[in-house]
Amino acid sequence: MLRSVIKGVGSALPRRIMTNSDLSKIVDTTHEWIVERTGIHARHIASDDETTRSLAVDAAKKALLNAGLEASAIDLVILATSTPDNTFPATATLVQADLGIIRGAAFDVQAVCSGFVYALTTADAYIRTGMASNVLVIGAETFSRILDWTDRTTCVLFGDGAGAFVLSGEEGENGILASRIHSDGRYSDKLYVDGGPSTTKTVGHLRMEGREVFKHAVVNIAAVMQEVLDQAGISAANIDCFVPHQANRRILEGTARKLGIPEERIVLTMDRHGNTSAASIPLAYDVALQDGRIKPGQLVLMEAMGGGFTWGAVLARV
Ligand code: UT7
Repeated sequence: MLRSVIKGVGSALPRRIMTNSDLSKIVDTTHEWIVERTGIHARHIASDDETTRSLAVDAAKKALLNAGLEASAIDLVILATSTPDNTFPATATLVQADLGIIRGAAFDVQAVCSGFVYALTTADAYIRTGMASNVLVIGAETFSRILDWTDRTTCVLFGDGAGAFVLSGEEGENGILASRIHSDGRYSDKLYVDGGPSTTKTVGHLRMEGREVFKHAVVNIAAVMQEVLDQAGISAANIDCFVPHQANRRILEGTARKLGIPEERIVLTMDRHGNTSAASIPLAYDVALQDGRIKPGQLVLMEAMGGGFTWGAVLARV
């Protein structure tokens, strides 16, 4: 059976680190509140010379090196982002050019924090139908550019960064075993940006009803994780590594408990990265790969939930 195999992984973070105590000098907050409610201690913030494009290119180069593949072998670039360099062209095409790729196609996927799961699912469909062989899937964000730095309920939560997978079509047991994506636009006003080219003609700022998002996240994430497990006929107890979107430590621990995934199998990186939206899964995956927690042959479960609402999960044997 032709499957999408994760051949390489890479990630990139901006140079500058902003701690909770740095934030407490800007807005009325404390390190203790942020840690207790979210698990976040610090996040990376892009400087003017660091953009979604540059972070994506950095992560993509590392993923290609890790895969042992030349950029010229890539026939599709899918970039998940809600913070593109420009309204258009797609940042994926800018990354494609920076990598020297002059064939195939490149496009952006916009599903906010679920972007990487949406992009993986899309790449998997292209590979399994034979429409692409080697796909670069990137999640890259500079959410610091769309934060309202006077709003303590949102600005403490997010950070910048990028992560990338190289997926290749191969026959065998390894690769993406199951994936599911969902959306429900009735909740679009719970987590959104209050601007855009066709409405305000500005970029706008992120707005969120945190408690509402939290409530739905707990339910939706657990349900979609169970869906992919059922699709693959695998029990949650057999998951070796759980690599979730890094929004809130409490949500993730609660979800893992509900499904019966032991706490030590959850990869948590929000302490140092914050919520990097579409970049958070590949960033966390890279950390777990580098420190040896993710090993060949393991079952890895990824999930995310974000604005839209959008949510989804991907199960892979790596
Ligand atoms: O990645 C996309 C998906 N996003 C998520 O999954 C995020 C989901 N939501 C959450 O993670 C949580 O709802 C938050 C972390 C955003 C907030 O935690 P919470 O436990 O739901 O807090 P809350 O919004 O109910 O606020 C509790 C209190 C409020 O004060 P009052 O009304 O009780 O007096 C807030 O004003 O905490 C206050 N507060 C803060 N205090 C200090 C809100 N933000 C801060 C802050 N520092 N930064």
